Amino acid sequence: MERLDRVQLINLPKFLDARGNLSFFENEAQIPFTIKRSYWIYDVPGGEQRGGHAYKSLQEFIVALSGSFDVVLDDGFEKKTYSLNRSYFGLYVPKNIWRHMENFSTNALALIVADQPFDRDDYIYDYSEFTSIKKGEKEHSI
Ligand code: TYD
Repeated sequence: MERLDRVQLINLPKFLDARGNLSFFENEAQIPFTIKRSYWIYDVPGGEQRGGHAYKSLQEFIVALSGSFDVVLDDGFEKKTYSLNRSYFGLYVPKNIWRHMENFSTNALALIVADQPFDRDDYIYDYSEFTSIKKGEKEHSI
């Protein structure tokens, strides 16, 4: 059963240089899955939110390549907000966590890598369905 304690802020390698800085991530070395898909979110108008769903099985890693935004995570029992504002760390989000992104700065660029191709059937869009799945998992684990 996935809880917020499995969420991880991951520091990325950082090469500081008078010519500018460089960071990177590779499968397995920095992030705990193999990347199957990358997408990015940009030009978000002030006050807009993205996401607002959970995934049944997909895991992802989110980096603010530019600007800043907040990722609000909810495991059905508690909520936590993670502010992403530098390109040398990112947020690992396991499957089965409700999430949305908000508070995008001007020019924010969110890079997201995932361990699966895009599949609508993997999404849970109904929050009450999500919480009842989580409560059911908890009862089974007791
Ligand atoms: P949507 O799920 O609404 O984005 P968010 O979770 O950030 O609110 O996705 C917007 C549209 O983009 C939707 O029609 C599905 C499509 N899409 C893809 O085709 N491939 C992808 O990898 C993603 C993430 C979205």
